[in-house]
Amino acid sequence: HDLTRANTLGLPCRAERFVAPSNVGDLREALDLARHEGWPLTLLGGGSNLILPAWLPGLVVRPAMCRWWLEEGQDDTVLVHAEAAVVWHELVMMLAARGLWGTENLALIPGHCGAAPIQNIGAYGVELSDVIEAVHLVHLDDGREAILSPEECVFGYRDSVFKGFLKGRVVITRLVLRLNRTPRPRLDYGDLASRVGASPSALEVAEAVGAIRREKLPDPAVVGNAGSFFKNPVVAADQAARLMDDYPMMPNFPQPDGRVKLAAGWLIDQCGLKGWRRGHFGVHKRQALVLVHFGDGTADELLDFAGRVADAVADRFGVMLEREPRLAESD
Ligand code: EPU
Repeated sequence: HDLTRANTLGLPCRAERFVAPSNVGDLREALDLARHEGWPLTLLGGGSNLILPAWLPGLVVRPAMCRWWLEEGQDDTVLVHAEAAVVWHELVMMLAARGLWGTENLALIPGHCGAAPIQNIGAYGVELSDVIEAVHLVHLDDGREAILSPEECVFGYRDSVFKGFLKGRVVITRLVLRLNRTPRPRLDYGDLASRVGASPSALEVAEAVGAIRREKLPDPAVVGNAGSFFKNPVVAADQAARLMDDYPMMPNFPQPDGRVKLAAGWLIDQCGLKGWRRGHFGVHKRQALVLVHFGDGTADELLDFAGRVADAVADRFGVMLEREPRLAESD
């Protein structure tokens, strides 16, 4: 089964076996079979945060359940149930159009709902963890179903239990989000406030976020990419202070724990790498945090290219950049 079009980086990949179950019963059957046969298992969502090798042995499972529905919550809240294969951006726009607040800042993030909790998707001052109520999943080892509370998901910046203890152990089948009917715009990030009216609708905010993203981020339909390739590094206060002495203009975001988050895109940009191309890969010309694939490249070449970018930042600033997209095989 060809997966070249199933990953937004557009890396050529073939899977030995592929299944796209459209309900939880079929999903559990596929998992049972893989366990029984001893096939290695790879889980796929929208493929927008994934680095695929040329060949995936065993079984690739891409959940295909795509229903969503609303449930009245307490006070002015509404619970949104969204199955794993619901396209995140389409859900966000439908909710914003209904005047439901909470996810509008997360417009145009690529991928499926099932993958959203893994990296705790976030943008423009909002993270998924701000609205999540529960995560439904199936355990790979014995097929049992479970529902996790937000606390059990251990969300952090671009992080969750699904990258830690539960990595490679569960399939996420459904999200439950809690949204508000009362307007509560979150406009403090960047120039978002200046792009909307005085009391904007949720839809207006979602559209403004979409417009900003379209200006900066490359469309995977045009050039392969996986969004931000690195996490923004969080460094100790004294290291940040030393860097601020040398680079007073450096963007910096003090964290509740006293450490300081830096902008990886700015660090890469300062190394003069924005728009740099080598072989089949490059640094995006409008947002240095995004690596792009011009075609005919491989995962190994991409990792080598990313290593050179990270080395340049480490040499100049003494800051280590950590990869964000998931590596399908070993990690
Ligand atoms: N900057 C530069 N040069 C660049 C890129 C950025 O100088 O080439 C500077 C900007 O001027 C700004 C700062 O760095 O002062 C931060 O840039 P930006 O607002 O574009 O956001 P980011 O930190 O680079 C993060 C997320 C994005 C998310 C935006 C908006 C991560 C790893 N990335 O990027 O998420 O859309 O904030 O909230 O946290 C993604 O994960 O795929 C993604 C696109």
